[in-house]
Amino acid sequence: MKHPPYSIRRQQLIARLGDGVAIVPTAPERVRNRDSHHPYRFDSYFWYLSGFPEPEAAIVLVGGDAPRALLFCREKNEKQEVWDGFRYGPAAAREAFGFDEAHPFAELEKMLPELIANRRTIWHSLGHDAAWDTKIGAAMGAVRAQSRAGKRAPGELRDLRGLLDRMRLTKDAHEIAIMRHAADIASAGHTRAMRACRPGMAEYELEAELGYEFRKRGADGHAYSPIVAGGAHACILHYIENDKLLAGNALVLIDAGCEVGGYASDITRTFPVGGRFGAAQKDVYEIVLAAQAAAFAAVRPGAPFAAYHDAALRVLVQGMIDLGLVDGSVGGVIESEAYKPWYMHRTGHWLGLDVHDAGEYKDGEDWVPLAPGMVLTVEPGLYIRPGPDVPRHLHGIGVRIEDDVLVTPDGGDVYTTAPRSVAEIEEVMREGATREEAIRHE
Ligand code: GLY
Ligand code: MN
Ligand code: MN
Repeated sequence: MKHPPYSIRRQQLIARLGDGVAIVPTAPERVRNRDSHHPYRFDSYFWYLSGFPEPEAAIVLVGGDAPRALLFCREKNEKQEVWDGFRYGPAAAREAFGFDEAHPFAELEKMLPELIANRRTIWHSLGHDAAWDTKIGAAMGAVRAQSRAGKRAPGELRDLRGLLDRMRLTKDAHEIAIMRHAADIASAGHTRAMRACRPGMAEYELEAELGYEFRKRGADGHAYSPIVAGGAHACILHYIENDKLLAGNALVLIDAGCEVGGYASDITRTFPVGGRFGAAQKDVYEIVLAAQAAAFAAVRPGAPFAAYHDAALRVLVQGMIDLGLVDGSVGGVIESEAYKPWYMHRTGHWLGLDVHDAGEYKDGEDWVPLAPGMVLTVEPGLYIRPGPDVPRHLHGIGVRIEDDVLVTPDGGDVYTTAPRSVAEIEEVMREGATREEAIRHE
């Protein structure tokens, strides 16, 4: 049955609307060039509440005494379906996706004034899409125009994301199963790239290995633009050109995850292009790995979100002191932020339908406490750009290690599995090279 968990989520949301109406449109199609579109990606909130894959659709949820869930979607159009593929049409969509009512998308603007009349609140993602803000404003205007007929426009316009972000922060069993699947595929993609890596390859060749594994195993594709950064490019955090050659004595950093059923995985691995870590590379790598282990240990229910960042940071800063990058005590360096040239980002984020997923990190002044069902990344790094005061043997070494963690009642379940330790990575790379050698001699 396709309705749960979506219908359950709709019911949970409706129960929180009070005497209000929520309007949740999906994303528009985007033109890539002239009349060619980007592959379609639905809006994450809309998907969370429907599982309905088509563009030109919106959900209207009505709270209060007579709660109901309406879907507005494209009508059947056999001629157009020859070109663009199957469309459910309202009748089949209502049935398949468990809505109380479904109507043609073109009817929405006509029906909206009636749906919102005499309600206290409109819930909407305010300011997210100017066209929708305008439509809702117009519907309110249309209701006001009928005031002499006894119609009242809602007096309250509230941001729906407050309610939905709280729901999305804790993943249900359906979501966790999909996210584990996405993590398995992404882990396989990283392992494939390690096996395939050879000195002199271009970064995009490793990107191709990941993309192949993602699609071969049925993922929708990349969850975000992948980073394949050889050598010092790893020190550019959002490097996505992926077009340089890989030097045999360098490291390569790959930050790539796939999307499955709308859900992201997000993994970073850093490994030696030639298959064996050099001494300095290994020193830096082991510091980041230890920072990640400290962060993993700090992921447990009740801990404030920032605790695992703080745990990783202490280990990274001690490492920076040991490497000669900064002077002073761990506490002093953290206080003065002298570590920031080498570690300038935080240690992770929520993960879900969006790679940087919905959900607040702070509740007032306090960091949100972790709770079972939350999913986050743990991704410490060290980025040593060449500079006059930087020990020469460290120049251009950039390392990040990123895994995905489900908060459980006992702590954290690290559910991404690509090789992580120096020994595991070197072993997998050796296997890859040996296999290639054997094939060559067959
Ligand atoms: N890949 C995006 C991130 O790691 O946050
Ligand atoms: Mn991440
Ligand atoms: Mn990442």
